[in-house]
Amino acid sequence: MDENQVKAFIKAFPTPLGFEASGIVIKRGEAVVGFPLGSLVFSAARSGGGLAEFTIVDSRFAAIVPANFSPVFAGGLSVNGNTTALALFSANGLGLPFPKSLEATAFGYGSKSIAIIGGGTGNGKIAIQLARIAGFGKIIAIASASGANELLEFGATHVVDRNATNIESQVREIAGDKIMHIYETIGRDPKLAPALLSNECGGTIVHIIPPYRPDIQAFKTDKVAVKFLNGGQTEQNLETASLFWRELPKWLENGDLNLKKVHVVKGLDIDEVTMAFEKILTFSGGVKYIVQVSGWE
Ligand SMILES: NC(=O)c1ccc[n+]([C@@H]2O[C@H](COP(=O)([O-])OP(=O)(O)OC[C@H]3O[C@@H](n4cnc5c(N)ncnc54)[C@H](OP(=O)(O)O)[C@@H]3O)[C@@H](O)[C@H]2O)c1
Repeated sequence: MDENQVKAFIKAFPTPLGFEASGIVIKRGEAVVGFPLGSLVFSAARSGGGLAEFTIVDSRFAAIVPANFSPVFAGGLSVNGNTTALALFSANGLGLPFPKSLEATAFGYGSKSIAIIGGGTGNGKIAIQLARIAGFGKIIAIASASGANELLEFGATHVVDRNATNIESQVREIAGDKIMHIYETIGRDPKLAPALLSNECGGTIVHIIPPYRPDIQAFKTDKVAVKFLNGGQTEQNLETASLFWRELPKWLENGDLNLKKVHVVKGLDIDEVTMAFEKILTFSGGVKYIVQVSGWE
């Protein structure tokens, strides 16, 4: 998040911070199915409050934490997981078939390539793993060379150094003129994604960087779609969001989706939380910061 994005989320103080949450169910709405009292769940706390002792989550976009998975890590996968799943698989995103569906079989993921610009971000790392789960033949991450090993372990088939001066030619060397799907989580050069897309077929670029990146949108043509995906719009992407939250605990349980570089702040330590926010604001380190409000003593 940059300073403008923080301002977009925080209108006035005091404010309930934190959109990711895991915790124990202490009260349920009447219409809620499943999620018995006392169960350990994770979800996106959409009205904020992930850093509070109590918060409200929407049961449609929540899941029980698998017994073999850390509840701390599960909470840390909720917002980016939801956002990136919608970016890849919803009609408002790349519109790719949901993994293992009948449409996915017909689509033939194995012969397809995807480029992920900003593969080293939290969202990029989840995109790599979801692309691997879906079965993409080539998963090309554009990210720091120093983080390449982690991205290869997550399932990237190729990592192209984001500081290289010939990114386009390296990507074309790998995938030819075949890339029709690009997910951009953070890139600073608006010309890069359009340059990587197939000249012959065009394709779709989805970015998650607010506010709507008019610089990227300018590359729309009749063959090139450019979309901004807001992960908070789960209602507008109900089908994909529901599928995602149904499959997510299985992916965690099987080890298909995970976090690697994580810094856990134990307790609401103001200095530690401030330090984490400062790191997040500068997009530095490639580390996921999670605050464990309680349960660590
Ligand atoms: N639309 C939505 O609903 C939504 C939801 C969540 C997040 N977001 C937005 O998505 C963006 C990414 O968030 P995040 O939490 O995934 O990021 P993050 O984890 O904080 O990303 C940090 C990483 O970004 C990479 N990076 C930094 N500058 C870069 C650059 N110029 N080009 C390419 N990579 C760069 C670095 O990795 P390497 O050095 O390893 O490359 C760095 O470690 C933010 O703008 C955030 O606000 C939007």
